[in-house]
Amino acid sequence: MNDKKILYDLRNVSYYYLKEIIALEDITLTINENSIFAFIGVNGCGKSTLMHILNGLLYPNQGNVIYKGEELNEVKFKNIDFVRKFRTTNTLVFQDTDSQLFCSDVYSELSFGLIQTEISDKEIKERVEQVAELMKISSLLNRAISSLSGGEKKKVAIASALILNPEVILLDEPTSELDPKTQGLIVEIIYELKKTGKTIIISTHDLGLIDDLKPDLCVLNEQHKVEIIGRAEDILENEEILLKVNLIHEHTHLHNGMMHKHIHSHYKIHKH
Ligand SMILES: Nc1ncnc2c1ncn2[C@@H]1O[C@H](COP(=O)(O)OP(=O)(O)OP(=O)(O)O)[C@@H](O)[C@H]1O
Ligand SMILES: [Mg+2]
Repeated sequence: MNDKKILYDLRNVSYYYLKEIIALEDITLTINENSIFAFIGVNGCGKSTLMHILNGLLYPNQGNVIYKGEELNEVKFKNIDFVRKFRTTNTLVFQDTDSQLFCSDVYSELSFGLIQTEISDKEIKERVEQVAELMKISSLLNRAISSLSGGEKKKVAIASALILNPEVILLDEPTSELDPKTQGLIVEIIYELKKTGKTIIISTHDLGLIDDLKPDLCVLNEQHKVEIIGRAEDILENEEILLKVNLIHEHTHLHNGMMHKHIHSHYKIHKH
């Protein structure tokens, strides 16, 4: 028996910027509740646009996005009760952290979302300290946001989403700018979030992250369409597909006096 509940149901979703720049073309897929789901594809294939659509920041030009059985559309987002519920339970961490972080210092940034709630100052402080410890940014709490490095900003952005304890966490390129140890931490946190019943949706072009997370995977191609949907384990073995969508490349070179052609990607140490 399949008792998985569908969280998102996308039906023939297309999106065009300025009516003519194609970002997404005819995307049909479902995302289950309490799953780790990832979109992978090369630069410009439409991943961030899709994350914005899932977070109700953009609406498709064609097709429908059904979320928990209800269509996400402009009319829905004019209903204040719906917006309040959606925005506190569904959080997007932007690819570009500068468009997300708007407070002057790290403590204010982390506590901002909680100040709008009934939670006491004491509890806010405790939660800020907890999430800072989790994300290994305790020493940054008093720092000005403008003084942080790119990776530090990314950690603050992820922490400011986690502190709200949302049901659905959308992470657009979560590991870009992060060092390998911090990438490992993100993978561990994503697993922990899943254990507590959350749904984690990520977008990336990082095959290594996909290999670590083993999510349900949707590969987007350069035509802004779905190339394939399946288990990460199976898709990572499918060199033909990865070559087709340019996530790996083949190169030819001379090795021990012989011409060699081999697949090259950056997520595994490549062998001859
Ligand atoms: N504001 C915008 N105005 C016009 N075109 C845009 C805009 N934002 C994105 N695009 C175009 O839409 C397409 C999809 O962009 P998107 O940012 O969704 O891709 P992406 O897969 O997230 O890329 P990356 O891996 O570089 O983050 C690209 O061709 C891009 O140039
Ligand atoms: Mg992007």
